[in-house]
Amino acid sequence: MSEYVRNLWYMAAWDHEIPESGMLSRTLLDEKWLIVRLSDGAYAMLADRCPHRFVPLSRGRLENDLVHCPYHGLGFDRTGACAHNPFPAAPPSHVRVGTMPVVHAHRGLWFWPGDPAKADPALIPDFAFVDRAGMQRSSLTIRGNYELVSDNLMDLTHAEFLHVTSFGVNGSIFQGAQSVLNERDGAIWNNWDMQGVTPPIWAAAMLAEGDRVDQWLHMRWHAPASMALTVGLARAGTQRADLVVPQMVNPHIITPETQTTSHYFYDHEATPEAEALARQVFVEEDEPMIEAAQEALGAMDFWEARPAILETDAGAIRARRRLMQLRRAEAA
Ligand code: FES
Ligand SMILES: [Fe+2]
Repeated sequence: MSEYVRNLWYMAAWDHEIPESGMLSRTLLDEKWLIVRLSDGAYAMLADRCPHRFVPLSRGRLENDLVHCPYHGLGFDRTGACAHNPFPAAPPSHVRVGTMPVVHAHRGLWFWPGDPAKADPALIPDFAFVDRAGMQRSSLTIRGNYELVSDNLMDLTHAEFLHVTSFGVNGSIFQGAQSVLNERDGAIWNNWDMQGVTPPIWAAAMLAEGDRVDQWLHMRWHAPASMALTVGLARAGTQRADLVVPQMVNPHIITPETQTTSHYFYDHEATPEAEALARQVFVEEDEPMIEAAQEALGAMDFWEARPAILETDAGAIRARRRLMQLRRAEAA
């Protein structure tokens, strides 16, 4: 099991996941955290563990922007300081609950588990595209290490086997050209470009019998595992000008819950059909494979297990290497 890279932005939740009560408890990087929405619209993240007798603060209540412990009634403010004592004495200044920087951006809540002085919001990857009408943002938990989920998304060749009836790329990836690119902001792109291929099954109804298409699947990765997939489909021979459907970009943002489970943040059109399809792809098709890989690995380190490396793995491996470099830099 590898250390988590601390000096990075991770996504904790979509903003709509914070309930009316203003508090959401979530396990992130093996620890329980409380995400709190305050009356001025700001957010705070507090350790979901009272420093007095360690009960979850999430069992308490949020009142006047203070989180009140359900056990002996201490109240904590957004900075983690104890700001309410149920006894007449002043709140004990030596009692504090842990906090992390949190930023509301791109409809998500992003936290920085490392050195707070380095938490520059400009380093949050650009997911501005998620804020659009007609889309529903969802999340689920996958029983696999976040890097195994990242491997899955950075190597879309699996779609030709695992998503034959759902995503249905119809063999076109076998005729595609792969390119892996590094960007200055730290992004790694794993791109598949297909020319003059059989259309994917989901587009068949929009095309005439025998029509050929150009298709592109471009996955952008930012550490630790925040990804965006661009899918384009145009009539073949039109230099990508005659689009069959508007180009789509969707988030695939993965945050470790524990070493062997991951939060998966995604979106889809706000229809029951699109929701069912997304669940089919992620829960029924991807998850059993990722889970089986996780079970086979057990507690063993990925590299110790001596994985075979294929050419089509290039993007996934580059992302893993980037995380290794970041880990080494933090350890030094
Ligand atoms: S356990 Fe929280 S105040 Fe005692
Ligand atoms: Fe998949």
